[in-house]
Amino acid sequence: MKDKQHVLVTGGAGYIGAHTVVELLHAGYQVTAIDSLERSEQRIVEGVSSITQKEFTFTKVNCLDAAALDQLFAANRFDAVIHFAAYKSVNESVEKPLMYYNNNVGSLLVVLETMKRHRVPDLIFSSSCTVYGQPDHIPVDETAPFKRAESPYGATKQLCERILEDMTTEGLRVVSLRYFNPIGAHPSALIGELPIGIPNNLVPYVTQTAAGVRAQLTVFGNDYATPDGSCLRDFIHVCDVATAHVKAIEFLNHLKSPTVCEVFNLGTGVGVSVLELVKKFIEVTGVKLNYKIGPRRPGDVEKVYANPHKVMQALHWKPTYDLGQSLLHAWQWEQKIRGLVN
Ligand code: UD1
Repeated sequence: MKDKQHVLVTGGAGYIGAHTVVELLHAGYQVTAIDSLERSEQRIVEGVSSITQKEFTFTKVNCLDAAALDQLFAANRFDAVIHFAAYKSVNESVEKPLMYYNNNVGSLLVVLETMKRHRVPDLIFSSSCTVYGQPDHIPVDETAPFKRAESPYGATKQLCERILEDMTTEGLRVVSLRYFNPIGAHPSALIGELPIGIPNNLVPYVTQTAAGVRAQLTVFGNDYATPDGSCLRDFIHVCDVATAHVKAIEFLNHLKSPTVCEVFNLGTGVGVSVLELVKKFIEVTGVKLNYKIGPRRPGDVEKVYANPHKVMQALHWKPTYDLGQSLLHAWQWEQKIRGLVN
């Protein structure tokens, strides 16, 4: 790095945002993180400080607040923005589509307007494999067409990617990372996911069941056309997701072209079934897990995992944690927040 670059991280107290702030600080970047704290807590910011022992700025700001964002950009000279701030619950988006379109698309528009006004050229965007729907071919690569999104949440990610494609004429350089299924927590157990209410996602449900917070896990369906009948996913450690953002910034730094819009799959390339994950959890933690097979969950994709060739080649990135480590870290974090360990 030529000099210390200054990166703005929106949603910096969120699950992936906080882990990314850690990796940016480790890599020597100057970081300003903002978050509305609507869906996270100050203790995550404190966790980032404890892990890194490095200075960074955290401010409570909602990305929809254009005036606040403008002030922030006026007071700082940012080199790049990583935009995480968004809602991510598929179910909630079905119930409250307007809230999802407003927040997820609206915040991106505010960020883009502000970047343009202050001539900040580089953006890393949080996208999702949900843009593919059920792909015709797996492992899926970046050339696969978008299917009609199953949920308003998925539609917001498709819309945001379309908006970003159009930004090259505005002089922006964009990398969109399409996450598969991020799981786990920082190995220090000082930061991790804080699901609100009953978790929708598999791993928080598994760890909460193991901790006795939920009575029983339901595996949604065992009659899919997969080896053991349960859905197949590409589970990736959140710290590996985080390091890819640092690599994406480096990628843009080395790029000569004044405009670009690149998308990358961010997965391990390994398809793991829900039942395999449950068994791996029991194996690595030694904890009993009460689970049953239930009916399919409406809207679930049968199988999806990444072809990560492009991200590995272009960003010189590769995953460093396996499934067992990811699940162990998720469990250590759950024990920590439940007060089951110190
Ligand atoms: C989906 C999206 C992902 C998005 C995420 C946000 C796809 C392929 N993925 O992830 O892009 O970021 O939502 O929430 O559309 N399961 C159970 N029991 C449970 C919970 C889940 O069996 O209690 C199963 C699900 O049926 C699914 C798998 O576990 O087969 C993973 O589910 P989940 O963690 O919710 O993630 P996705 O739905 O894959």
